[in-house]
Amino acid sequence: MTLRQAALDVRENAYAPYSRFKVGAALRTTSGEVFVGCNVENVAYPEGTCAEAGAIAAMAASGLRDIAEVYVVADSPTPVAPCGGCRQKISEFADQGVVVTLATTDGIEAPTTVAQLLPGAFDASQMDRA
Ligand code: THU
Repeated sequence: MTLRQAALDVRENAYAPYSRFKVGAALRTTSGEVFVGCNVENVAYPEGTCAEAGAIAAMAASGLRDIAEVYVVADSPTPVAPCGGCRQKISEFADQGVVVTLATTDGIEAPTTVAQLLPGAFDASQMDRA
């Protein structure tokens, strides 16, 4: 199954009663496994948990740490833009050149990279003097 299809499928499970905006994300690890996530909102924090964060949490819970590719899809006029927190989470587990494809259910695809999504990312090397 393609990452696009995995993301489209999991998007159907999104719990988004507050925004009504369903998002699906799928990632492939460098070991070849696929993990998926959808956004899950709640009344106290209506933005809830993003689809990308869900997929990353599933990967990490399986003991894996290295992302090779990410795909995110929503029913939006233009490809959905990951929030700042998700950009940092992706950056934690993916090399700068890893492709993150942002897409719409209509079929528009905007491939980008981790470096493009989070230029000047904070990383552990910046704490070398600590
Ligand atoms: N959302 C995601 O899951 N991923 C994104 O890349 C953008 C936004 C979700 C969070 C919230 O449930 C809804 O979309 C509206 O912000």
